[in-house]
Amino acid sequence: MPARLVIEGGVPLRGVIVASAAKNAALPALVAGLLTAEPLTLTNVPALGDVGTMVTLLRTLGAGVERDGTRVTVRAARIASDVAPYELVSTMRASVLVLGPLVARHGSARVALPGGCAIGVRPIDQHLKGLARLGATIAIENGYVVAQASRLKGARIATDLVTVTGTENLMMAAALAEGTTIIENAAREPEVVDLAALLTAMGARIAGAGTARLEIEGVPDLAGATHAIVPDRIEAGTLLVAGAITRGDVTVTGLVPDHLTAVLAKLEECGVALEVGPTWVRAHGPERPQPADITTSPFPGFPTDMQAQLMTLLGLADGQSRVTETIFENRFMHVAELARMGASIEAEGSVAIIRGVSAYQGAPVMASDLRASAALVLAAIAARGRTEISRVYHLDRGYEAIESKLGALGARVERLA
Ligand code: EPU
Repeated sequence: MPARLVIEGGVPLRGVIVASAAKNAALPALVAGLLTAEPLTLTNVPALGDVGTMVTLLRTLGAGVERDGTRVTVRAARIASDVAPYELVSTMRASVLVLGPLVARHGSARVALPGGCAIGVRPIDQHLKGLARLGATIAIENGYVVAQASRLKGARIATDLVTVTGTENLMMAAALAEGTTIIENAAREPEVVDLAALLTAMGARIAGAGTARLEIEGVPDLAGATHAIVPDRIEAGTLLVAGAITRGDVTVTGLVPDHLTAVLAKLEECGVALEVGPTWVRAHGPERPQPADITTSPFPGFPTDMQAQLMTLLGLADGQSRVTETIFENRFMHVAELARMGASIEAEGSVAIIRGVSAYQGAPVMASDLRASAALVLAAIAARGRTEISRVYHLDRGYEAIESKLGALGARVERLA
């Protein structure tokens, strides 16, 4: 039987915990290793399922990857294969990030089309349109994107919507293109800014990171570098909710509070007492949360990756809340499982109406995607009684040692193999 988590709820979490580095920054950072023949070293890579999948993919493409604890070195002296196979892309959509670097460095890429996933359709048309603007020829053959270019050429790209991995893919491709690329409507997420910093350390010329307009002057080659990945704002936010939802007192350190502005504002609105330091945030839970309305949007708006966790907190609020999900069309899968724990939530289309209940009850529940799983963990630590969460491999994709972190704060969490 796949691993399960068994949680005895009702303990107020207390203590100090360090945020891990961000999954969604680690993945593109690893891929950046394909852009240079020299070694690229990342110093604080989190131990996550998705990181393992990305390492496997890089090795499949011919890169050497050495892992020594949290230190990972990627050596892509040459690209041996340009194929990102379906087995890996279907396991992890972020595999599509190799597309831009492979075309830019190697001249060709064959990357399986990801298809739909649990949270939505998630097309990659903007990645492909952007690469075509940079001069790549793009074809779809037998379920694979086949992209080719002898040398990409800088161009002006305006994406139709804000896409995080799309921006990252195009930024990496443009870094090795001939001439200047402008990306309008670029994603402004901290993970995009972190990738820009890494590429700059490798010799890329990028201006405007963190704004909606990136200007990238292509260079013929990039060099190796050493880089520490930005802290995980979503893991940090999840742990702060863990403190709040158990009426506890949790401090998360080693983070960048500015990356959490929208989340912290909502937590305050819910009545969570916050103290914010230069690299830490302390959350002190209210007796009962206040209701709030949330609409997800690209950074600096409220992140879709925190929607399920905040909804879980609102599920216990003294009143009615409304959550609108604008990024993904099917990101309410936690709703049905939370209902099994006593939540009163009605979801229709992109809107969920949450009528707060006074407590959750432990129940057997099933994880469906990464953030929905985090929501179930939060409900479980707050609940009366015992919750058993199955399919925790979803959680392991993006939360490092979650049971030890929560355990260190006093939660009663056990992993059953
Ligand atoms: N979209 C398109 N066409 C494209 C690209 C995106 O229509 O070519 C749509 C998507 O379907 C979605 C919206 O645009 O409706 C935004 O998607 P985006 O491309 O920004 O998402 P992503 O890059 O695939 C990253 C994170 C996600 C996070 C989203 C939004 C990584 C590896 N993944 O995905 O993280 O939810 O940005 O912030 O960075 C997670 O960690 O749980 C997770 C799903």
